[in-house]
Amino acid sequence: MKEITITLGDITTVKVDAIVNAANTSLLGGGGVDGAIHRAAGPQLLAECRTLNGCRTGEAKITKGYRLPSKYVIHTPGPIWQGGTHHERELLRNSYVNSLKLAEVHDCRTVAFPSISTGVYHFPLERAAPIAITAIQDFLQSAKFVEQVQMVCFDAGTKQAYDHALTQVNEA
Ligand code: APR
Repeated sequence: MKEITITLGDITTVKVDAIVNAANTSLLGGGGVDGAIHRAAGPQLLAECRTLNGCRTGEAKITKGYRLPSKYVIHTPGPIWQGGTHHERELLRNSYVNSLKLAEVHDCRTVAFPSISTGVYHFPLERAAPIAITAIQDFLQSAKFVEQVQMVCFDAGTKQAYDHALTQVNEA
């Protein structure tokens, strides 16, 4: 049964087929969830990332999960918020859709996302949440493998924004 769930927690502890990393275009690690995922996965993750030659904003690349509970890590650089005049909404949607496309071709049934771009990249949370939930909902309608998508929120404010966005989509 296809479903989207919103949880509070640390994505590095979630046991799903693939977790998504809010990366940067170098794919060579960073702070925030990127830093947490690299710390938990161990040095082999960075070693594999080095072979990928970076990733464009809104696109996604996949690696193994190494010491993480998840089989794969899907890395996607979300857009840096620049006021909304640089296709940020479209690029954020692309990050979700392209990550799900990669999960699909790797036969993943369960996928977990952090709140892409709403930290260091300053994408306003109340704008990002509906974009994310709508992108995931639309994808699930035609997905053949991906069945369960979990938004793993690191704090209560983020969870509230995604809970609200999910309620809005379900009532639409
Ligand atoms: N589990 C789940 N979510 C987390 C975790 C974690 N362990 N750690 C942080 N987060 C949350 C943040 O609280 C925020 O809600 O992930 C969301 C995204 O924040 P960032 O990690 O800052 O990512 P982003 O805004 O996309 O900026 C990406 O930050 O870390 C660098 O290398 C990264 O340059 C890139 C930029």
